[in-house]
Amino acid sequence: MRMYDIIAKKRDGGALTDREIDFFVQNYTSGVIPDYQASALMMAIYLRGMNARETARLTAAMARSGDMVDLSAIAGVKADKHSTGGVGDKTTLVVAPIVAACGVKMAKMSGRGLGHTGGTLDKIESVPGARVDLTEQQFFDQVRRIGLAVIGQTGNLAPADRKLYALRDVTATVSSIPLIASSIMSKKLAAGADCILLDVKTGSGAFMKTLEDSIALARAMVDIGEHNGRRTAALITNMDCPLGYAIGNSLEVAEAVRTLQGRGPADLTDLCRALAAGLLMLAGKGDAAACRVLAEQAVATGAAHTKLREMICAQGGGAQYIDDPGLLPQARCSRPVLARQDGYLAAMDSEAVGTAAVLLGAGRETKDASIDPAAGIVLAKKTGDAVHAGEVLATLYASETGLFEAAEAQFCQALRFADAPRPPQPLVYARVDRDGVTMLTP
Ligand code: URA
Repeated sequence: MRMYDIIAKKRDGGALTDREIDFFVQNYTSGVIPDYQASALMMAIYLRGMNARETARLTAAMARSGDMVDLSAIAGVKADKHSTGGVGDKTTLVVAPIVAACGVKMAKMSGRGLGHTGGTLDKIESVPGARVDLTEQQFFDQVRRIGLAVIGQTGNLAPADRKLYALRDVTATVSSIPLIASSIMSKKLAAGADCILLDVKTGSGAFMKTLEDSIALARAMVDIGEHNGRRTAALITNMDCPLGYAIGNSLEVAEAVRTLQGRGPADLTDLCRALAAGLLMLAGKGDAAACRVLAEQAVATGAAHTKLREMICAQGGGAQYIDDPGLLPQARCSRPVLARQDGYLAAMDSEAVGTAAVLLGAGRETKDASIDPAAGIVLAKKTGDAVHAGEVLATLYASETGLFEAAEAQFCQALRFADAPRPPQPLVYARVDRDGVTMLTP
């Protein structure tokens, strides 16, 4: 078998056989197939697509390219959630403790932020002392003991995806449905959970900008999960505006803690409740209404907040930061961004806001760059709000004032103003599961 022929077949619109896909994944992972041939195949797939069988096979081959975590030694149902990436998305820090407080184990491997999107690991590490590099034994013990652990991926989880994702990132081949679906689901299958809830973002800050594409991506991932024996569902959620008000690591932890204390922003609170209920349903805890009540009670009784405190302490962080998020690292410098006109905030480009936060030090430009845990943005206005000239739109936080100018310019580029309010946008557009697509908006 020759890689050249596989590239040519896909270039001409053919469907690859299982053997051809396995050949490519095995030999690319081991270094026999060079990056330039893998790039050519990625571009051919990007342009020609893959059918459901090819996508499923690519996912399985990538999942099996490294360790398959076996969580069966931990009793009970193990659940996982995954977001396709957003700005201000701190839902894992809220949803995982809620679900664990309801008796479903969350054994979760998360990622770091890259580009304009944040990552859960960076948020957890912004709590002084907290670690995400547990050994597999420590990870298992913690899940058994408190029902919840969120750690970084082990070294050898889906190495084929690690190589391919880095390649796609620099060859303009990220936003392809079969490539995203296989990338995400290979890691989810390898990580071993029984139930997987996917939060597929749609809108300006998401990989998928249209609802149609987001639903197609969700269907592809749900099919892959269900065919591999995992209960899988997806919610299609709005990323036309950052989630909540805080963007940046310790700022987001503080907002997540307030949400678990019942004092969070409405959009974040509602989305976390929907995601937690979705996971509890997959785990067999009841129908949609019953699971929403369970999720609400976990917050109202303080059980979910206690669960986050237990997790942070188990991973080396101080309980005081979860009891009083005001103690989390604070930036040395801050600057308000003021409105220059009256009107309504008609649109906020999440990707541009995320990039402004990166310029302040909250994210990485390159994989190994360090980040400032306290840097970021706290919005004062969100899409749809009335604005008067001179009012604060947001406050920028950084370690030095020299970072403000570029970040403020970037932030202002993200905003569009209008004379009239626009109708409120839905937060959750649809649910996709093995029974099909349920639209949740009129
Ligand atoms: N997240 C992933 O893990 N992979 C993709 O391809 C896109 C988003």
